[in-house]
Amino acid sequence: MTTRTATPRRYLMCRPEHYTVSYEINPWMDVTRYTDRDLALQQWEVLYRTYLDWGHTVDLIDPVPGLPDMVYAANGATVVDGVVYSARFRYAERAPEGPAYQKWFADHGFVTHTAAEINEGEGDILMVGDVLLAGSGFRTDRASHRELADLTGREVVSLELVNGHYYHLDTALAVLDSDPAHPLIAYYPGGFSEESQRVLAERYPDAIIATDRDAEALGLNAVSDGRRVVVAPGATDLAVELRNRGFEPHAVDTSELLKGGGGAKCCTLEIREVR
Ligand code: ARG
Repeated sequence: MTTRTATPRRYLMCRPEHYTVSYEINPWMDVTRYTDRDLALQQWEVLYRTYLDWGHTVDLIDPVPGLPDMVYAANGATVVDGVVYSARFRYAERAPEGPAYQKWFADHGFVTHTAAEINEGEGDILMVGDVLLAGSGFRTDRASHRELADLTGREVVSLELVNGHYYHLDTALAVLDSDPAHPLIAYYPGGFSEESQRVLAERYPDAIIATDRDAEALGLNAVSDGRRVVVAPGATDLAVELRNRGFEPHAVDTSELLKGGGGAKCCTLEIREVR
């Protein structure tokens, strides 16, 4: 079995102090359902502590009242080689989050670029090895994929999302190993157009194929440090497969945050510093 190696990570997170579901912009959100902010805070805290226990660095951005989705830090920006590509949100409800995250990065010494095109950060842009996978179909515009390629000088592979429940790339695809020598992903084919399924099968012939059950538990919204993987407790098929491939799956329950349509990965923005 392959021996997996964890590498130290730097993440940015946002405590869900103002968490609620007050609008509906994805099929998971239901404003008539009760949301328990204290439970969301507790679950978030477990995720945060998990990263710290594993020796990772976690920075925190102050939550802003009136921006309940700010807890989904992954959407706030994309950071590649120390360069920050700001988010530009599809919906007005989340629009102020882009500048809020961009300001955090500017205040912390990063070079930031204000996006001209609509993109929802790492929700739709995932780095695997040397390339960037970029989703479109629900939130992020294809035009941003080009903007991202121009900014980073990296290859950007466009993927089309077709299932509204998996409206962001990080709800249908997880990066498990980002080492350019042996990149590995897991994905749910049902989230992608046939053409994109072909692209994924060709590029990642040894990928883990997630089951319906994994996808429905938002199991693809997982965070891997190369060896340990935070995964939703309901994604039991994925956990078995992760173990078969030499990873250590760690179930972290973020059920309360799922009411907003997000899981562990949504709450975790990776800061990739200069190579
Ligand atoms: N309520 C948020 C939205 O619909 C959830 C975002 C989840 N984040 C993610 N990275 N998929 O925009």
